[in-house]
Amino acid sequence: MAITLKKLSPNLGAEITNLNLGNSLGAELTAEIRQIWLDAGGLLVFRDQVLTTSQHIAFSCNFGPLFGAPGEDRLQDTVGRYIHPKYPEIYRVSNKIKNGQLIGRERAGAYWHSDVSFRQRPAAASILYAHEVPAVGGDTMFADMARAYDALSEPMQQMLAPLRAHHDFSVAAASQYSAQIVVTDDLESGNQPFHPVVRTHAETVCKSLFINPGFVSHFDGFERAESGPLLDFLYTLATRPEFIYRHRWQERDLVMWDNRSLMHYAVADYGEEPRYMGRTTVIGDTPA
Ligand code: OGA
Ligand code: MN
Repeated sequence: MAITLKKLSPNLGAEITNLNLGNSLGAELTAEIRQIWLDAGGLLVFRDQVLTTSQHIAFSCNFGPLFGAPGEDRLQDTVGRYIHPKYPEIYRVSNKIKNGQLIGRERAGAYWHSDVSFRQRPAAASILYAHEVPAVGGDTMFADMARAYDALSEPMQQMLAPLRAHHDFSVAAASQYSAQIVVTDDLESGNQPFHPVVRTHAETVCKSLFINPGFVSHFDGFERAESGPLLDFLYTLATRPEFIYRHRWQERDLVMWDNRSLMHYAVADYGEEPRYMGRTTVIGDTPA
C-alpha cells in the first residue's frame, strides 16, 4: 500500500496517516520511512498510532541504538527518575502524578534545545508518543537549523565554519532544573563536549547550525561577552517564524524529529490539564 503523505509546512514536516507502526516494518519500509523523514527536513508525524510501549521501542530500534537500552549509554542521571520503571529506553514527559509522584518530567523542554547535545554522541532521532494531551495547548515547536544556516551570508558562514561551541548540561541544570533534583555527576566531563557550530548531516550532507540556547555556554576560545551576542543573533535568526513548524498534538500521534538539524521547544501553556508523552532517543554520531 502506498504511503499517504502530506506536507505540514512548506519546508518542514510531513504527516503520514495510513500506516500502522505496531507491525514490524521490514527493511524496505524502514528505508522508505527514513527517506521520507529526511526529505521532510527531519520532522515526521504518524497519526492514530495505537502502540504499546514495546511497540514504540521496537519501531524506534529501526533507526539506531537507543539511550537506555541494555549496553548503551543512558541519558543524564538527573532524568533517571523519569525513566519508565519497566522500559529503560523510555523517558517520560508528564505533569501527571501517580502514588504521590510525578510519572515524568513536568513541562520538559520548555526552552529551545536539541536533545542530549551535551554528549559526545548526541541524539539523532527523538521519537515521542502522545499518550494523553490537553484539549488545546501543549504544542511543540521545531526550528529548522539547516534553513537558518542557508539564510546566512557567505562571509558569516565562513566565519562560523571553523568554530566550535561548548555544550554543557550544567547550562540547563542551572536554568531548567531545581537544585534538589540535579545529580552532580551530570555536571562533569561526560556532559561537556565541544561540537562544530556548523554541522554536516551524515545522511543528507546538508549543513546546519548545531547550537542551542538550552545547552550551549559559549564558542570555544571566545570570551562570553564575545560569543553571547553572536549566539543571540543566530538564535533569533533560527527561530524566525518562516523556519518553524508548530505541532499541535493529537492523542496517539507519534512524532519523530532529527536533533542533528532541528531545535525544539515544548510550549508549557496548558495549566493543570494532564499531558503524558513517552520518548525514545536514538544515539547519533559524533557531530562533524
Ligand atoms: C522532549 C521534549 C517536547 C514536548 O521530549 O525531548 O523536549 O512537547 N519534549 O513534550
Ligand atoms: Mn527535548
